[in-house]
Amino acid sequence: MKSANLVIALTKGRILEETLPLFAAADIVPTEDITKSRKLLFDTNVETVKLMVIRGSDVPTYVEFGSADMGVAGKDLILEHGSDGFYEPLDLQIAKCRLMTAVPVTDQTDSDVLKVATKFTNIAKHYFAEQGRQVELIKLNGALELAPSLGLADSIVDIVDTGKTLKANGLEPKDLIADISSRVIVNKASMKIKNAIIRDILSKLSTAVKAK
Ligand code: PRP
Repeated sequence: MKSANLVIALTKGRILEETLPLFAAADIVPTEDITKSRKLLFDTNVETVKLMVIRGSDVPTYVEFGSADMGVAGKDLILEHGSDGFYEPLDLQIAKCRLMTAVPVTDQTDSDVLKVATKFTNIAKHYFAEQGRQVELIKLNGALELAPSLGLADSIVDIVDTGKTLKANGLEPKDLIADISSRVIVNKASMKIKNAIIRDILSKLSTAVKAK
Protein backbone atom coordinates (compact mmCIF):
# COMPACT_ATOMS: atom_id res chain seq x y z
CA MET A 1 0.00 0.00 0.00
CA LYS A 2 1.28 3.47 -0.89
CA SER A 3 1.73 5.57 2.25
CA ALA A 4 -0.32 8.77 2.61
CA ASN A 5 1.17 12.11 1.64
CA LEU A 6 2.43 14.50 4.27
CA VAL A 7 1.70 18.10 3.28
CA ILE A 8 3.77 20.88 4.86
CA ALA A 9 2.57 24.49 4.46
CA LEU A 10 5.42 27.01 4.35
CA THR A 11 5.14 30.78 4.61
CA LYS A 12 6.20 32.54 1.44
CA GLY A 13 8.52 35.54 1.34
CA ARG A 14 11.43 36.28 3.62
CA ILE A 15 10.62 33.46 6.07
CA LEU A 16 10.84 30.91 3.24
CA GLU A 17 14.49 31.70 2.56
CA GLU A 18 15.35 30.94 6.19
CA THR A 19 13.02 27.92 6.36
CA LEU A 20 14.35 25.95 3.39
CA PRO A 21 17.89 25.39 4.76
CA LEU A 22 16.40 23.98 7.97
CA PHE A 23 14.22 21.56 6.00
CA ALA A 24 17.24 20.66 3.83
CA ALA A 25 19.09 19.78 7.04
CA ALA A 26 16.06 17.62 7.89
CA ASP A 27 16.50 15.84 4.51
CA ILE A 28 13.49 17.48 2.85
CA VAL A 29 14.42 19.30 -0.33
CA PRO A 30 12.00 20.51 -3.02
CA THR A 31 12.68 19.10 -6.49
CA GLU A 32 12.63 22.60 -8.04
CA ASP A 33 13.50 26.14 -6.96
CA ILE A 34 10.35 27.08 -5.07
CA THR A 35 11.48 30.65 -4.44
CA LYS A 36 11.23 31.34 -8.18
CA SER A 37 8.15 29.33 -9.21
CA ARG A 38 4.52 30.50 -9.34
CA LYS A 39 3.34 27.00 -8.38
CA LEU A 40 1.82 26.53 -4.93
CA LEU A 41 2.41 22.79 -4.33
CA PHE A 42 5.81 21.17 -4.76
CA ASP A 43 7.24 17.67 -4.79
CA THR A 44 10.29 16.94 -2.67
CA ASN A 45 13.08 14.36 -2.68
CA VAL A 46 10.84 12.35 -0.32
CA GLU A 47 8.06 10.92 -2.49
CA THR A 48 5.37 11.21 0.17
CA VAL A 49 6.24 14.73 1.34
CA LYS A 50 4.79 17.79 -0.46
CA LEU A 51 5.41 21.44 0.27
CA MET A 52 2.79 24.19 -0.07
CA VAL A 53 3.93 27.81 -0.24
CA ILE A 54 1.25 30.27 0.90
CA ARG A 55 0.69 33.51 2.80
CA GLY A 56 1.68 33.24 6.44
CA SER A 57 -1.74 34.31 7.61
CA ASP A 58 -3.27 31.30 5.84
CA VAL A 59 -0.88 28.68 7.28
CA PRO A 60 -2.73 28.29 10.63
CA THR A 61 -6.03 27.84 8.77
CA TYR A 62 -4.69 25.12 6.44
CA VAL A 63 -3.10 23.28 9.37
CA GLU A 64 -6.11 23.62 11.68
CA PHE A 65 -8.43 22.11 9.09
CA GLY A 66 -5.95 19.40 8.11
CA SER A 67 -5.43 20.37 4.46
CA ALA A 68 -1.81 20.67 5.54
CA ASP A 69 -0.43 18.28 8.18
CA MET A 70 2.30 20.64 9.33
CA GLY A 71 3.13 24.29 8.80
CA VAL A 72 5.65 27.03 9.45
CA ALA A 73 4.21 30.38 10.50
CA GLY A 74 5.24 33.47 12.45
CA LYS A 75 4.18 33.53 16.09
CA ASP A 76 2.40 36.84 15.37
CA LEU A 77 0.05 35.14 12.90
CA ILE A 78 -0.40 32.14 15.20
CA LEU A 79 -1.38 34.43 18.10
CA GLU A 80 -3.73 36.38 15.85
CA HIS A 81 -5.38 33.20 14.54
CA GLY A 82 -5.57 31.46 17.94
CA SER A 83 -3.71 28.20 18.54
CA ASP A 84 -6.36 25.87 19.98
CA GLY A 85 -6.75 24.01 16.68
CA PHE A 86 -3.19 22.66 16.37
CA TYR A 87 0.01 21.82 18.25
CA GLU A 88 3.03 24.13 18.25
CA PRO A 89 5.94 21.78 18.99
CA LEU A 90 8.98 23.69 17.74
CA ASP A 91 10.42 27.20 17.63
CA LEU A 92 12.60 27.45 14.51
CA GLN A 93 14.20 30.64 15.89
CA ILE A 94 14.15 32.33 12.49
CA ALA A 95 12.54 35.59 11.32
CA LYS A 96 12.91 36.97 14.84
CA CYS A 97 11.29 40.33 15.54
CA ARG A 98 9.03 41.98 18.10
CA LEU A 99 5.32 42.79 18.14
CA MET A 100 5.07 46.23 19.71
CA THR A 101 2.94 49.25 20.22
CA ALA A 102 4.33 52.40 18.63
CA VAL A 103 3.40 56.06 18.95
CA PRO A 104 4.44 59.33 17.32
CA VAL A 105 7.73 60.71 18.66
CA THR A 106 5.70 63.80 19.57
CA ASP A 107 3.01 61.74 21.34
CA GLN A 108 0.81 63.77 23.68
CA THR A 109 -2.31 61.64 23.62
CA ASP A 110 -4.30 61.82 26.83
CA SER A 111 -7.71 60.72 25.60
CA ASP A 112 -9.53 58.02 27.57
CA VAL A 113 -10.12 55.91 24.47
CA LEU A 114 -6.97 55.22 22.50
CA LYS A 115 -7.39 54.80 18.74
CA VAL A 116 -5.13 51.94 17.62
CA ALA A 117 -4.49 50.93 14.01
CA THR A 118 -3.32 47.36 13.40
CA LYS A 119 -3.76 44.25 11.30
CA PHE A 120 -3.45 42.22 14.55
CA THR A 121 -6.87 43.13 15.94
CA ASN A 122 -7.33 39.96 18.03
CA ILE A 123 -3.92 40.33 19.68
CA ALA A 124 -4.45 44.06 20.26
CA LYS A 125 -7.93 43.52 21.74
CA HIS A 126 -6.55 40.95 24.19
CA TYR A 127 -3.46 43.01 25.04
CA PHE A 128 -5.26 46.28 25.79
CA ALA A 129 -8.00 44.45 27.72
CA GLU A 130 -5.28 42.95 29.95
CA GLN A 131 -3.84 46.45 30.43
CA GLY A 132 -7.31 47.70 31.39
CA ARG A 133 -7.05 50.24 28.59
CA GLN A 134 -10.09 51.24 26.54
CA VAL A 135 -9.28 51.24 22.83
CA GLU A 136 -10.96 51.71 19.49
CA LEU A 137 -9.32 49.28 17.06
CA ILE A 138 -8.94 50.25 13.42
CA LYS A 139 -8.17 47.34 11.10
CA LEU A 140 -5.61 48.06 8.38
CA ASN A 141 -3.76 45.59 6.19
CA GLY A 142 -0.63 47.62 5.51
CA ALA A 143 1.09 51.00 5.72
CA LEU A 144 0.03 51.20 9.36
CA GLU A 145 2.85 53.61 10.06
CA LEU A 146 0.96 56.34 8.20
CA ALA A 147 -2.15 56.14 10.37
CA PRO A 148 -0.97 58.36 13.26
CA SER A 149 0.42 61.15 11.06
CA LEU A 150 -2.83 61.26 9.08
CA GLY A 151 -4.91 61.42 12.25
CA LEU A 152 -6.50 58.00 11.79
CA ALA A 153 -5.02 56.58 15.00
CA ASP A 154 -3.08 57.59 18.13
CA SER A 155 -0.99 54.46 18.15
CA ILE A 156 -0.26 51.32 16.12
CA VAL A 157 0.45 47.67 16.92
CA ASP A 158 2.90 46.19 14.43
CA ILE A 159 6.00 44.09 13.82
CA VAL A 160 9.27 45.85 14.59
CA ASP A 161 12.53 44.43 13.29
CA THR A 162 15.24 47.06 12.80
CA GLY A 163 12.89 49.92 13.79
CA LYS A 164 13.73 51.76 10.57
CA THR A 165 10.13 51.84 9.29
CA LEU A 166 8.92 53.44 12.53
CA LYS A 167 11.72 55.99 12.55
CA ALA A 168 11.19 56.92 8.89
CA ASN A 169 7.57 57.70 9.71
CA GLY A 170 8.09 59.76 12.87
CA LEU A 171 7.14 56.95 15.25
CA GLU A 172 8.94 55.23 18.12
CA PRO A 173 8.43 51.81 19.71
CA LYS A 174 6.65 51.87 23.07
CA ASP A 175 5.56 48.58 24.69
CA LEU A 176 6.60 45.03 23.82
CA ILE A 177 3.60 42.75 23.29
CA ALA A 178 5.43 39.56 22.24
CA ASP A 179 8.77 38.31 20.97
CA ILE A 180 8.16 36.75 17.56
CA SER A 181 9.85 33.95 15.63
CA SER A 182 8.67 31.27 13.22
CA ARG A 183 7.13 28.14 14.71
CA VAL A 184 6.29 24.67 13.41
CA ILE A 185 2.63 23.83 13.93
CA VAL A 186 1.04 20.40 13.49
CA ASN A 187 -2.56 19.33 12.86
CA LYS A 188 -3.85 17.41 15.89
CA ALA A 189 -5.22 14.42 13.94
CA SER A 190 -2.11 14.23 11.73
CA MET A 191 0.07 14.07 14.84
CA LYS A 192 -1.71 10.82 15.75
CA ILE A 193 -2.16 9.30 12.30
CA LYS A 194 1.23 10.24 10.81
CA ASN A 195 3.14 10.27 14.08
CA ALA A 196 6.30 8.47 12.95
CA ILE A 197 7.16 10.73 10.02
CA ILE A 198 6.13 13.92 11.85
CA ARG A 199 8.24 12.99 14.91
CA ASP A 200 11.18 12.20 12.61
CA ILE A 201 10.95 15.57 10.82
CA LEU A 202 10.52 17.48 14.11
CA SER A 203 13.53 15.75 15.60
CA LYS A 204 15.73 16.55 12.57
CA LEU A 205 14.49 20.16 12.46
CA SER A 206 15.21 20.53 16.16
CA THR A 207 18.77 19.27 15.63
CA ALA A 208 19.20 21.74 12.73
CA VAL A 209 17.94 24.63 14.88
CA LYS A 210 20.36 23.75 17.69
CA ALA A 211 23.24 23.45 15.22
CA LYS A 212 22.71 27.00 13.92
C1 PRP B 1 6.96 44.63 8.54
C2 PRP B 1 6.19 45.53 9.48
C3 PRP B 1 6.88 46.86 9.33
C4 PRP B 1 8.31 46.45 8.97
C5 PRP B 1 9.20 46.60 10.17
O1 PRP B 1 6.44 44.73 7.27
O2 PRP B 1 4.81 45.60 9.14
O3 PRP B 1 6.30 47.63 8.32
O4 PRP B 1 8.30 45.08 8.59
O5 PRP B 1 10.54 46.34 9.87
P1 PRP B 1 11.70 47.29 10.37
O6 PRP B 1 11.51 47.47 11.86
O7 PRP B 1 12.98 46.55 10.06
O8 PRP B 1 11.61 48.58 9.62
P2 PRP B 1 6.85 43.73 6.11
O9 PRP B 1 7.94 44.30 5.30
O10 PRP B 1 7.13 42.36 6.69
O11 PRP B 1 5.58 43.67 5.20
P3 PRP B 1 4.04 43.67 5.59
O12 PRP B 1 3.65 45.11 5.59
O13 PRP B 1 3.43 42.87 4.50
O14 PRP B 1 3.89 43.03 6.94
